[in-house]
Amino acid sequence: GRYDLLVVGSANADLVIGVERRPAPGETVLGSDLAVHPGGKGANQAVAAARLGAGAALLARVGDDAHGRLLLESQRAAGVDTAGVLVGGAPTGVALITVDPSGDNSIVVSPGANARLTPQDVRAAGSLLAAARVVSVQLEIPLETVAEVARTVSSDTRFVLNPSPPAPLPEQVLAVCDPLVVNEHEALFILGGTAGDTPEDRARGLLALGPRSVVVTLGAAGALVADSRTGDLVRVPSPKVDAVDTTGAGDAFTAALAWRLGRGEGLLEAAEFAVQVGAAAVTRKGAQDSFPTADEVSAL
Ligand code: RIB
Ligand code: NA
Repeated sequence: GRYDLLVVGSANADLVIGVERRPAPGETVLGSDLAVHPGGKGANQAVAAARLGAGAALLARVGDDAHGRLLLESQRAAGVDTAGVLVGGAPTGVALITVDPSGDNSIVVSPGANARLTPQDVRAAGSLLAAARVVSVQLEIPLETVAEVARTVSSDTRFVLNPSPPAPLPEQVLAVCDPLVVNEHEALFILGGTAGDTPEDRARGLLALGPRSVVVTLGAAGALVADSRTGDLVRVPSPKVDAVDTTGAGDAFTAALAWRLGRGEGLLEAAEFAVQVGAAAVTRKGAQDSFPTADEVSAL
């Protein structure tokens, strides 16, 4: 049978410290106790989708170490197919995260094993790729690996890209995105001086680069969806929630969106569901640990 969603991406151990405020260069501040959570933008998306009820699989690489086992365990507990999770070659990726009282985070990622997920690994996972309705990718793995996925997906498989952290994207990758999902940082990075002032300007600018559709996430303000086929630009408001920890909310949003698109929903409808999933994820600590079930989303 077919998977709803294959995520090709990173898996990180998130080492999280709560801070009153971030230190300036040269400064030391004291923070909370250390929390270790399963994270990484790829692993997060796979868990988010599976928890919503999707048939999800992950193609990723972790180290043969305790962090790698934590990540595999969390994938399995959520019901993700982990046959594509490769083990060894380097230590598991680590994300050093500070979270402030408003729930905002700052993240530094040491890619570790994620940097060893190669185009060859993608080719070896051909049957996994062929079985997916949607393939979702981010940029915490090598760009050449992302490009190999973009080259390999068949025309009846939807390709979703969140270019995070942002990097210059080859035209051939941009051309297959449906959608390209960006936050405002990522939009500014990609568009540079041509970004314009409004999210609408940015969505139009991004569409002009070739993707079939674009979603600009706007944090508490929801999202903006833009479709090159219809020319429609539509804002999707987010429900109001009390933010505790925004870590992984974008991943939950993108996973929910990708899953619903694979089910044949329209971009607008899928985004309306995804903003609710993202909003639910900010109300709890951690990334994967904060992702809602379908019942929790409808209760929102
Ligand atoms: O998007 C949130 C994720 O970014 C964290 O889980 C961290 O691992 C980094 O990849
Ligand atoms: Na969260």
